[in-house]
Amino acid sequence: MHIPTLISRKREGEELSAREIQKLIAGYTSGEVPDYQMSAFAMAVFFKGMTPAETAALTRAMMDSGDCFSHRSGHPAVVDKHSTGGIGDKVSLILAPLVACAGCRVPMVSGRGLGITGGTLDKLESIPGFNVHLSLDQAAAQLEKFGVVMMGQTERFCPADRKLYALRDVTGTVPSIPLITASIMSKKLAESLDRLVLDVKYGSGAFMRTKHAAEALAASMVAVGGEMGVEVFTVLNPMMEPTGQAVGNVLEVIEAIECLEGGGPADLRTIVLDLSEKIAGVSLPELERLLDDGSARRKFDELVSAQGGNPADLPRLGEIHRAPVIREMLAPITGELVKVDAGMIGQAALQLGAGRAKASDGVDFAVGFDRLVKVGGTILAGQPLCRIHARTAVDFDMAEAMVEKAVRIASH
Ligand code: URA
Repeated sequence: MHIPTLISRKREGEELSAREIQKLIAGYTSGEVPDYQMSAFAMAVFFKGMTPAETAALTRAMMDSGDCFSHRSGHPAVVDKHSTGGIGDKVSLILAPLVACAGCRVPMVSGRGLGITGGTLDKLESIPGFNVHLSLDQAAAQLEKFGVVMMGQTERFCPADRKLYALRDVTGTVPSIPLITASIMSKKLAESLDRLVLDVKYGSGAFMRTKHAAEALAASMVAVGGEMGVEVFTVLNPMMEPTGQAVGNVLEVIEAIECLEGGGPADLRTIVLDLSEKIAGVSLPELERLLDDGSARRKFDELVSAQGGNPADLPRLGEIHRAPVIREMLAPITGELVKVDAGMIGQAALQLGAGRAKASDGVDFAVGFDRLVKVGGTILAGQPLCRIHARTAVDFDMAEAMVEKAVRIASH
């Protein structure tokens, strides 16, 4: 196959065959096709798009570039959820054990935070000892025993995606619907699922800025799932304000545990239940019961111990990772709270050190925000808007200035 011709054909908007796409991805994974040719191909796709058949072929080729989960036949339903990323989005930490309690298997392969969006793996690693580096064999054994595993991508899991995603990141080709679809769906479909729910976010704190763009991405992912025999459900959620009231690694785990114990912010619980109901195969009241009676919390303990953590640490995570400066920020005036901009809060959390600017950076588990006010209702001057957890007083001042810009109070 002559790669320059393939690139030119895509550049002219021609439809490529499944075989051509498969060979291109296999060549790229093995190193035969160099980065510069793949960059040009990705840019051609960015401008010319792909047909649904091409997108499905790309997804399958990327999924087949490595190993997939294989589940015993006659197994309980294997399900998962994917979120396109938001601020304060700790839903996976709650949904995975909850849905496992409902009798499903949840082989959740997650990612790390990049830019303003946090990552499930970073949050889990704020639990001392929690190991996200499992082999597929270890994951399968844990799944059999506990019904849930939460881990990172292994070397052999969708290697084509790992390479291509890193390349897209530095070539301006991330925001392409076919490329995003294939990237997300190849990893989820390699989990060999029966059902998948996608939480597609839109708004200031999301990858997709408009509802229209989120709908297009959702439709593309549903089409690929359909082609590949997986039932895919989508829920579109605005990401104008952060999810829940905590943003930052350990602070989000603490809030997730509150939700697993039947408490936590109402918006967080609603998203968890909405998404879980689509895939769990049990009723909403049953899911509520599993949160309220401590079943989901006990499953989370099982998950933590299975992956090297100690459940006894969970109630004291706030002390284990305690930021040196923890102070409230107060409302300057009385009025109606009309905006808490998710994108700006995400930026502030990133500046505090909760996120990473580039893939090789580390994250600070302790810093971020909690007790963040929610939009709607009246706030009085002098009441707390949030609590800021910072490494230094200078960082606190910087975060305070950013929250001031993120929050809008309309005086009566
Ligand atoms: N997340 C992914 O895994 N891939 C993308 O392309 C975008 C978001």
